[in-house]
Amino acid sequence: MRIRGERNPDRDERSREEPPAATRTCRQARSDLRLHPKRSQWCERGSDPAGCHGRYSRRVPPSIRIRVPAKVNLHLGVGPVRANGFHELVTVFHAVDLFDEVLATPAPALSLTLRGSADGVPTDSQNLAWRAAILLAAHAGVSPDVALEITKAIPVAGGMAGGSADAAATLVACAALWDVPSSELPALAAELGSDVTFPLLGGTALGTGRGEILRPVPMTQTLQWVFVLADHGISTAEAFRELDRQREAGAPPAALDAAPMTAALPDGSPHAVAAVLHNDLQPAALALAPALADTLRAGAKHGALAGIVSGSGPTCAFLCADADDAAKLAAALDADGVGRATRVASGPTPGATRVG
Ligand code: C5P
Repeated sequence: MRIRGERNPDRDERSREEPPAATRTCRQARSDLRLHPKRSQWCERGSDPAGCHGRYSRRVPPSIRIRVPAKVNLHLGVGPVRANGFHELVTVFHAVDLFDEVLATPAPALSLTLRGSADGVPTDSQNLAWRAAILLAAHAGVSPDVALEITKAIPVAGGMAGGSADAAATLVACAALWDVPSSELPALAAELGSDVTFPLLGGTALGTGRGEILRPVPMTQTLQWVFVLADHGISTAEAFRELDRQREAGAPPAALDAAPMTAALPDGSPHAVAAVLHNDLQPAALALAPALADTLRAGAKHGALAGIVSGSGPTCAFLCADADDAAKLAAALDADGVGRATRVASGPTPGATRVG
């Protein structure tokens, strides 16, 4: 791996070989920023810092917009903690149509701005999307000169992997800007976090290792969900630590067999899937946020087929028989003032996708 600013001879070679069709003069270029392929240097329209006008300048896409889904774990089995500090997981990820969007635009330097429901989300290197841009730029041998704008709809610190989704979308967007093949992204995603690989794939998938080793699980039916958002977050690390404490005190062992779920999924009814929803982290989330037990009871009372804490929580996920039932359940929970907000969603849905 190269460090920031270091030259990548392979990339320079690729750039030199570009066909003449990619060449534009300043006056012909429609975008304001163009990349000098040999010097990795941006020139603004009207300036000529590399002395390259009309010869080496090429148009670059003005921006790339990626839509990326949230996830819920249909099965989450958590094994013992390993020497690297991570727990062995056997999980079934399921992508639902609650989306964040990442817009990546070539810029003089890396920056990150947020739109939508983004309370408490950092806009610097604390943000996984920022780290994704740095990691990918180092991999590509370019400077991470990109303006990231993230529009958030996935609940923050909600157990639906919103931060991981943003990082995955950033990898996809910047890979398009910096000519990185998509086949190289899963390994980089796994380096960033356990849940970053799945949003690249989407759909429904069995996850093993620490969650980053994926195998798609085919399913024919669409599942209808209601998600109840909480007015606080739960730290993933804290939920795992709480589970370790509970296990030391004699809590049930890990459910590392996801076969009941993977068997129910291919053509099972929502009722069949509801019967085998499972989350080893749920008792830990309930210990950290006891009010979630009321949320789960309210969902059951108003007709959900089953309710479960999503990942490490505190978002609760309710599986419904069909879209009508989901709309009715969301209305009933809203009327009772359960949680901060409800969202109706369905899955599976594809992973990170270019929408502009
Ligand atoms: O991988 P990621 O950064 O999303 O994980 C956040 C935290 O969750 C980790 O630092 C670790 O404490 C915990 N975790 C774990 N085992 C996993 C995944 C996450 O203990 N398989």
